[in-house]
Amino acid sequence: MFRTSDDWNRIYAEEPKPGWDMDGPTPLLNELLGEASLAPGAAIAVPGCGFGHDAAELARLGFAVTAFDIAPLAIEGARARHGGTVAWRLEDWFACEAGPFEAVFDHTCFVAMEPARRGEYAAATRARLAARGLWLGAAFHDTGDRVGPPFAIAREAMGDLIRASGFELLMLRDARDSHARRAGREFLWIARRM
Ligand SMILES: C[S@@+](CC[C@H](N)C(=O)[O-])C[C@H]1O[C@@H](n2cnc3c(N)ncnc32)[C@H](O)[C@@H]1O
Repeated sequence: MFRTSDDWNRIYAEEPKPGWDMDGPTPLLNELLGEASLAPGAAIAVPGCGFGHDAAELARLGFAVTAFDIAPLAIEGARARHGGTVAWRLEDWFACEAGPFEAVFDHTCFVAMEPARRGEYAAATRARLAARGLWLGAAFHDTGDRVGPPFAIAREAMGDLIRASGFELLMLRDARDSHARRAGREFLWIARRM
């Protein structure tokens, strides 16, 4: 059984600041943007946005951002912290009708999904991208002894999934600018919808 909206919302109800929340955007956002060619003002989706720090930073940089989360308390928290700079949507990434976006920025959403859903997740992401749209992502290859979510995935396995899901893999490498708490455990990818 996969985690539901209630399951995720319960975490936000029990932990007003869940362990994954960094109080600000991930430094990996700049690292990824530095290697992706995105037009100014491009439409970007952020699935599993949590409290919305990455989405708000992308909006501050001038992108047109739509951010999704399945947990009502996440979307409430994002709105309270960042106001209306982003189009916040309380919706399931697997089921929403949205797009086409020029890019999807994925930070700890893909890797929070049960491994059995990975193919479905890649397909949902592809479906919401415009032709030649970019999937920019960061994931853990090592989460220590923690049992998910997030669910670590080997970098090469991610490359295989991306290539098998209708994307051209443009970049796949270890992250350099991870938050100190995550150093040495994350990798990045940039993939283009074919
Ligand atoms: C590990 S948290 C990461 C949150 C945020 N990206 C961050 O780094 O702070 C994963 C988020 O994905 C959301 N989520 C889980 N399944 C989802 C789905 N099917 N559609 C949209 N959001 C989902 C959860 O509610 C949670 O906020």
